[in-house]
Amino acid sequence: MNSPPVIAIDGPTASGKGTVASLVAEKLGFHYLDSGALYRLVALGSQKASIDPTNGAELGLLAQKLVISFKNGQILLNSEDVTEVIRTESIGLCASAIAVHPEVRQALVGVQHGFRKAPGLVADGRDMASVIFPDATLKVFLTATADARAERRYKQLIAKGISAKLEDLLRDLQERDARDSSRGAAPLLVADGAKVLETSDLSIDQAVKTVLDWYQAKTA
Ligand code: DC
Repeated sequence: MNSPPVIAIDGPTASGKGTVASLVAEKLGFHYLDSGALYRLVALGSQKASIDPTNGAELGLLAQKLVISFKNGQILLNSEDVTEVIRTESIGLCASAIAVHPEVRQALVGVQHGFRKAPGLVADGRDMASVIFPDATLKVFLTATADARAERRYKQLIAKGISAKLEDLLRDLQERDARDSSRGAAPLLVADGAKVLETSDLSIDQAVKTVLDWYQAKTA
């Protein structure tokens, strides 16, 4: 039997891939995997358990034991609703730090494959096309300049009433870009066969339409 189709959308932090991926999934009636949320959950779990972010072996064991569930837009960690808590900049930075460990990445492979169900899946992250779903029907590398991404993040935070400094956000995302791209295990890269979508000057609707057009062209 053929496996359900996958659209893999990778890209750097704050590139808008989450928004675009979830809208593409909605339009196609596909399931949606936010793989970054899994690394954020391990980061939160590691902080609660006071595990050193450099201890790959212990973090891998923790990642195997965490009870994670995605229900009606809510994200639960060991039955606690952590939907908002995992979105902070500090958890994002910690997620990037713990994601360098192969033990952590390995522990999350099965969970990610479990999202692949009919009629199809849109998965976003850093290694969706290169490692987790190398047979994806469509591979997209969605990106924007660091300035454009910092500004988007700034506007999102201000709109939520959270104070932020543009320079700090730019510095943090450059730090995460550097680590996510230079790590040995499953680094962020443009996978073989991936199409690059530069969104600095595109609206969300234009980016979603481009991905849907590319998918249609692949499946026509
Ligand atoms: O997409 P995000 O910002 O929520 O991801 C948080 C961190 O998790 C990111 O900086 C690196 C890590 N990550 C990863 O290593 N591989 C993925 N597929 C998704 C996220």
